[in-house]
Amino acid sequence: MGTPEASSGEHLPDDEFVAVAADDELWDGEMEAYDVGAAEVLLVKLDGEYRAFDGICPHQSVSLVEGTLDGATLTCRAHEWSFDVRSGAGVNPRTACLVRHAVRVRDGQVLVSRTPLPATEPAH
Ligand code: FES
Repeated sequence: MGTPEASSGEHLPDDEFVAVAADDELWDGEMEAYDVGAAEVLLVKLDGEYRAFDGICPHQSVSLVEGTLDGATLTCRAHEWSFDVRSGAGVNPRTACLVRHAVRVRDGQVLVSRTPLPATEPAH
């Protein structure tokens, strides 16, 4: 488990971040996938805050943007694994977990980190 700073990405340098969207591009409760380097990153806006995750399901690598977002619960379309997008923790199964990326909002742009954040203990 990393430090709180490491798990939030506050320590990361600016050149670690890529602008993916305008701050007003997503509605609250909406999600969208963006290419960040060779990876797909899923950006979710919930309660006015952004979260970002690796865009592929940890089960069998289906694109998560094809799933459904109901409140804070993201459900993969393929086999209905579900996750809490507030933390990335698995809802079903609880042993699963999304891989988080750090997010910053600067000058009207949403930026996400190129590399994922260190894994933390699931918030169960
Ligand atoms: S690929 Fe997502 S639940 Fe199986």
